[in-house]
Amino acid sequence: MTYQIYNGDCIKEMKKIRDNTVDLVVTDPPYNLGNFMKNRDTNLAKMRDNFFGAAGWDNLEFEDWERSMDAFLEQTARIMKKGGSIIIFMAVIKVETIIRLAEKHGFYYKTTGIWHKLNPMPRNMNLHFVNSTESWLYFTYKTRTGTFNNEGKMLHDFIETAVTPVSERKYGKHPTQKPEQLISHFVYTLSNKGACVLDPFMGSGTTGVVCKRLDRNFIGIELDTSYYEIAKKRMEETGDEA
Ligand SMILES: C[S@@+](CC[C@H](N)C(=O)[O-])C[C@H]1O[C@@H](n2cnc3c(N)ncnc32)[C@H](O)[C@@H]1O
Repeated sequence: MTYQIYNGDCIKEMKKIRDNTVDLVVTDPPYNLGNFMKNRDTNLAKMRDNFFGAAGWDNLEFEDWERSMDAFLEQTARIMKKGGSIIIFMAVIKVETIIRLAEKHGFYYKTTGIWHKLNPMPRNMNLHFVNSTESWLYFTYKTRTGTFNNEGKMLHDFIETAVTPVSERKYGKHPTQKPEQLISHFVYTLSNKGACVLDPFMGSGTTGVVCKRLDRNFIGIELDTSYYEIAKKRMEETGDEA
């Protein structure tokens, strides 16, 4: 496999990628929940040294966030091959915005699925339903079906894994790092060996690590230099185990 990772703004970097070259995008952009969480006056920032709401990269006003998602989907449509697929992780309450923008740019809406965390943080567990789910959206581009390596098995629109294990955080912490097992499910199912996979909001590089393990080529972009450095280290240290 080959990989290229960039430390910069994804819109700027995506503009340098040639048209019709990407087979699959698996990405986990900001969910636009930073201000929502602050207005709720939660004590999460005090409870966790690594709380995403305090990290500063999810603080846009809704209209600015919507514009950034629009620009990201516009660029994705330009660089994606016909028949390519995209998985976007998202907060349940923002799903409609993403579907509307993706359809505007020619994506075919397939699925809103759920990731269920088997061991979520049991915050205020005697006061409310503990938050243990995130959504993911699945679209194909200019066709109604894309690569789908289900190997004859029925795949549900629901996936359950543990949260990211400590062993995957040894190069540094990212507040919303996804587990490799979760991302592997989508990279394996929706692409073939040698495919070009892009994650424009790469964070600590989980999609890249999975691509290296599964022998897919990878392009990753991350704005924050410290997260980019974690991703770089993880990519370098991941063995070719495919
Ligand atoms: C939800 S996190 C991704 C976490 C990743 N899935 C992982 O496993 O580590 C979103 C990331 O997008 C980055 N980001 C935000 N705006 C960006 C932009 N305009 N261009 C590139 N990266 C951006 C943030 O710094 C953050 O690391």
